[in-house]
Amino acid sequence: MNKKFLVIGNPIEHSLSPKLHNYWIKKNNIKALYEKKLLKEEEIEKLILEIKEEKIHGVNITIPFKKKVIPFLDLLTDEASKSQSVNTIYKIKDKIIGDNTDIEGFKVALEKTNQIINDKTVLIIGAGGVVPSIIIALKKLKIKKIFITNRTEAKAVEMRNSFPELGIVDWGKMINFDIIINATSIGLNEKDKIKLDYENISKNKFFYDIIYNPEETDFLKKGKKFGARVENGKTMFVHQAQKAFFIWHGILPEIDKETFNLLRA
Ligand code: ATR
Repeated sequence: MNKKFLVIGNPIEHSLSPKLHNYWIKKNNIKALYEKKLLKEEEIEKLILEIKEEKIHGVNITIPFKKKVIPFLDLLTDEASKSQSVNTIYKIKDKIIGDNTDIEGFKVALEKTNQIINDKTVLIIGAGGVVPSIIIALKKLKIKKIFITNRTEAKAVEMRNSFPELGIVDWGKMINFDIIINATSIGLNEKDKIKLDYENISKNKFFYDIIYNPEETDFLKKGKKFGARVENGKTMFVHQAQKAFFIWHGILPEIDKETFNLLRA
């Protein structure tokens, strides 16, 4: 019988996880199927029960449930606990485990850009579910200073309670940064725009968007237009998926050109 895997989120249409996982499943001759499911918050509990009953064998979590799933889980891995963010779920010996592969995914993605990190200042836009993972990865890479800015300031303040070294920038204000990261959902819809004073951001900056579909958000388009190096979240996405695949199937799937080609529209 095919094992069943899912990615849950809301919205979920943009997710390319099924495409990627099913490609690796087939390539490695595994009997499994990976699907996406639009979920409402009140349906999380029932879904976890289905993992307990082994009707579902593994789940990936995306916006906005990475934190919201935690109360329904039996155990968190160290990375999931530190970040209070879960993107991969599985069952071991009757226990439902929450894990986090975003930290490693983001860390690998930034390492692959070959930048010197330890003298850099980062500005993160957003204070949602994925932000703790980004902060932990940046700290592992020994970044010099991290600032965050968020529409709802209370959430930025809450983030600073977990990471006291964070600086907070008022929403709509700009600072002198080296790297700017969009960690909001603004851009998932092609028309979404983050209001930033792009023209006054000096050249040679690095713009990173966690979003990978669409491939080029307005944020990245503007960065490019005003002379920045830009990168979308595809490398992070592929590497978090590779780690989740290994957790579930015990096989580290290959990441090559074909993998990235597959994810083009
Ligand atoms: P959650 O906060 O439930 O974890 P998320 O989807 O992981 O949700 O995070 C969404 C992020 O995108 C948040 O930082 C959110 O800002 P708020 O905390 O103010 O809600 C941000 N976001 C989403 N839509 C936005 C918009 N139109 N303008 C500004 N920020 C937005």
